[in-house]
Amino acid sequence: MKLTLFLTCTILLTFSLHARENERYRIPLIGEKAPSFTGLSTEGTIHFPDDYFGHWKILFSHPADFTPVCSTEILELAEIQDDFSKLDTKLVVMSTDGLNSHIEWVRSLQGIKRYDRESITIEFPLVSDPDLEISKKYGMLHPTYSTTRDVRGVFIIDPEDKICATFFYPASTGRNMEEIKRVLIALQTSAKRNVLTPANWQPGDDVLIDSPESIEAAEKLAAKNNPDLYSLEWYLWFKKSK
Ligand code: BEZ
Repeated sequence: MKLTLFLTCTILLTFSLHARENERYRIPLIGEKAPSFTGLSTEGTIHFPDDYFGHWKILFSHPADFTPVCSTEILELAEIQDDFSKLDTKLVVMSTDGLNSHIEWVRSLQGIKRYDRESITIEFPLVSDPDLEISKKYGMLHPTYSTTRDVRGVFIIDPEDKICATFFYPASTGRNMEEIKRVLIALQTSAKRNVLTPANWQPGDDVLIDSPESIEAAEKLAAKNNPDLYSLEWYLWFKKSK
């Protein structure tokens, strides 16, 4: 009897420890609060997302410093860092490499001239995560790739620290920084104007509004002759941007 009780308790405890460990690897979902962390970065200690409350934020992870794809990503991000700044958006990059590695890599990247550009100063922090704590909190370790190196993760986070969009790319594929900027602008447009953005939307294009609830509701909307709106079907209404 005592042995059965002991075995049952041991099995339950093992399951609960596993569940808790798995929870630590979970990817935070859209709508959830961005997990908090404190990390050492190339610009000092960072408390994320608290230090940036009230601003939009984008958290990027990458597999490893001094690697080719990652290097081009950091250079391309730096190339449009002023655009993100104008969009009131703070950029934070992290990987499981140590701080000294980050500092040396940034120094090296700042000497590179890609295409026929001038070399560029990297104005966003690179956070080190050698204990894998941040990587686990943000589900950036995908164990079939690596248990110690992050995949390419992107989290777009709103001024209230709510996760608005997430992307994951494999190590082999460099991200398109213009596409990340486009998604950010789409999210900001939706938040500001209470509208939706259609497929392939680009800033300045017409946007969408929620579908009327029925054909009758659509007919009533059409009868208002609002010059800013037009429809292609009763459930498909655009709002002019210009
Ligand atoms: C890269 O950034 O080039 C890279 C990083 C990790 C694995 C493969 C490629």
